[in-house]
Amino acid sequence: MIREIVWYGDEVLKQKSHTVEKIDADIKELINDMFETMYQNNGVGLAAVQVNVLKKVIIVGIPQEDESMFEMALINPEIIYHSDEECEGEEGCLSIPDIVDDVFRSTSIKVKYLDIDNNEQILEANDFLARVIQHEIDHTNGILFLDRLESHQKRMHKKDLKFIKSESLKRQNTKSVNEKY
Ligand code: NI
Repeated sequence: MIREIVWYGDEVLKQKSHTVEKIDADIKELINDMFETMYQNNGVGLAAVQVNVLKKVIIVGIPQEDESMFEMALINPEIIYHSDEECEGEEGCLSIPDIVDDVFRSTSIKVKYLDIDNNEQILEANDFLARVIQHEIDHTNGILFLDRLESHQKRMHKKDLKFIKSESLKRQNTKSVNEKY
């Protein structure tokens, strides 16, 4: 099932996600829905908070050169190592439509997580994959890529952000009306 993506301006995006205690059918359904939602919106990563679920679940889906898809779901992901070496690269976010900018991220990381079968895994990731994972783990800590921009970068997006925020508030109001009736 495709879920609605929460947009910038919704306070939920600033909240910290909770640790998943048990990988049950609900979590598996959440992950399936997240993949459907991400691909529908042409994303390469998604965090559960972006579909309004405050749980530490992130997914990545990166198209490879041979046209296959590199897919992963990471539960309770935690960065246990990040390189001091950083590189700048362009990022966007499905919760902040149509805004992209350059962000500095560690070039390589090690991340500890649970896979869908409840096995603890450690993944070493570099370059683009490392970037996507850092971006998504930020979401689980209530951080957006905008928060990592220099103030002069952020200023350039002020007008667009104001627009997204007002659209986001409209959606939230419609939601609470629908819930009432
Ligand atoms: Ni994002």
